[in-house]
Amino acid sequence: MFFNMFKQQIQNLVYSALKSLAKKGVFSQITLEKKSIEIETQFQKEKGDYSSNIAFSLAKQLKQSPQAIAQKIQEEILIKKPKFFKKIEEKNGFLNFFLEENILTSKFLKVESEKLFSLNIGKNQKVIIEFSSPNIAKPMHVGHLRSTIIGDCLANLFSFSGYQVIRWNYLGDWGTQFGKLITAYKLWGKEEKIKKDPVNNLLNLYQRFHSEVKKNPQLEKMAQEEFKKLEDGDKENTRLFQWFSKESSKEFQKIYRLFKIKFDVIKGESFFYQDQEKIIEELKKKKIVQESEGALIIDLKEFNLPPALILKSDEAGLYLTRDLCALIYRVDKYQPKMILYVVGNEQDLHFRQLFAVFQKIRKNKVKLVHVKFGLVLNEKKEKFSTREGELIPLKELIDKAIIEALKILNKKQPAWPKEKKQKIAEKIAISSLKFNNLKTYRLNDIIFDWERMMSFQGDSSVYLQYTFARFSKILAKSKLSRNFIKDFQKRNQKIEVNSLEKDIIKKIIDWPDIIISSVRNYAPNILANYLLSLADLLNQYYETTPVLQEENLEQRHFRLYLIEICLEVFTNGFNLLGIETLKEI
Ligand code: ARG
Repeated sequence: MFFNMFKQQIQNLVYSALKSLAKKGVFSQITLEKKSIEIETQFQKEKGDYSSNIAFSLAKQLKQSPQAIAQKIQEEILIKKPKFFKKIEEKNGFLNFFLEENILTSKFLKVESEKLFSLNIGKNQKVIIEFSSPNIAKPMHVGHLRSTIIGDCLANLFSFSGYQVIRWNYLGDWGTQFGKLITAYKLWGKEEKIKKDPVNNLLNLYQRFHSEVKKNPQLEKMAQEEFKKLEDGDKENTRLFQWFSKESSKEFQKIYRLFKIKFDVIKGESFFYQDQEKIIEELKKKKIVQESEGALIIDLKEFNLPPALILKSDEAGLYLTRDLCALIYRVDKYQPKMILYVVGNEQDLHFRQLFAVFQKIRKNKVKLVHVKFGLVLNEKKEKFSTREGELIPLKELIDKAIIEALKILNKKQPAWPKEKKQKIAEKIAISSLKFNNLKTYRLNDIIFDWERMMSFQGDSSVYLQYTFARFSKILAKSKLSRNFIKDFQKRNQKIEVNSLEKDIIKKIIDWPDIIISSVRNYAPNILANYLLSLADLLNQYYETTPVLQEENLEQRHFRLYLIEICLEVFTNGFNLLGIETLKEI
């Protein structure tokens, strides 16, 4: 289903042409779903307004060339004399559709702009989106940043589309590493010192444990014992654990505040550890687990996966065990339609095992998706790490982004007072970090190229913010009220549009379908790139077409109306991406 009526019409035409060609025996029976027929909006005149590459995807099945297939479809469509189009053409295997003069504008003027911005494909179904999920007692790093930014944007996209979204932060706050940390603390830690800079000092302790254990393997055993004590509810260890957690959470909150990220539920591994026993009982009862050398495993051959380890021989549960408990809890408590896990590629096997195990114990139709993403690389395309090989802490990255943004402002706005520069630089830094993340297809690695990330010339959030500010100024200068501009539609004049305006209209009416495909593919980059291309068109418009200077009153009002809707598209787009608008820049 397309929202765009022209695309919908084309999809119907192509689909029924294929069906009748099959009926006539021109094509053999084809297995094809209507919704898999893709339609592209075109901006190069010779390709028409819309095109379809359907013939290419059928060539193999039908054992004919795309050209031959497209020609037959074209002829079949023409028999029906379809409305809206003045020409339908086959070219190099593509089907190109040319709209009748004026149909675009007249339909566009009938679209209620409210409808463009209220979608309800979600029908209020529940979706749990798990994202961010950093680890306690360690700094949040660029990998978590990627999850945080993509997850937040997906949550926005899903709720905008009418889903009921639960934003979940699944903290990494349980596991044998806490035994190591507690051991290190008891041996070398000083409460006073740690309080000064808790997260970094805890990290130092943790690292010291790792270097000392090489000389003294005895430490490993101590750590196991400390963790066991923690699991058994030992008072002192529980106090330490809670203190570490609290300090870490404070640090995380600082980052969430800066990025304006909110969660509905913050429940991490330590919460689900409690359900472990119960779930293992269930697994045993259902005869899903097997014993192997004192440990419990689940065979996953039927899924072509290696067996999942559920309980170690020392009775300790694992990351997977806790994830299974969390999954069952979520399904039982919320009955969601879907659960998305926004987590890096490298946990692919973990999630495949988790979903497989779940299928073995519950007959539930919940859709489970591992929304994976690639790495974060520096300018030299190396892993973003410190000299010691640890991933770079987020705070360092944000500070660097602010310095880069300040450099730009010092050049562009040297006269601004210092505080103003600092404030705007922070906003630019955060939106650039977000946008750089979102415009890249999530499975690809992200490269940090500071100059490009903050360039006014394109590809960046500042470019979008700058375009937005530029056109907001025009509207403000027109001195017309928003309502007056909006009313333009009702007056419904006959308007001449130039080819750039036609392109802008085509972009605008694509908006709902862009949102839907961003949602269906869990791909914020679709929305981000759409906004970039709309900004390109608008900046060309700015250079070529007078607005306030246009003499013809109706023409001028139409142009203002067009700009008003574009700004509305931007405002909605920015909200979804989590980017702030800047009035002056
Ligand atoms: N805390 C984990 C990490 O930093 C990510 C958690 C992912 N979510 C999950 N349900 N396992 O690697």
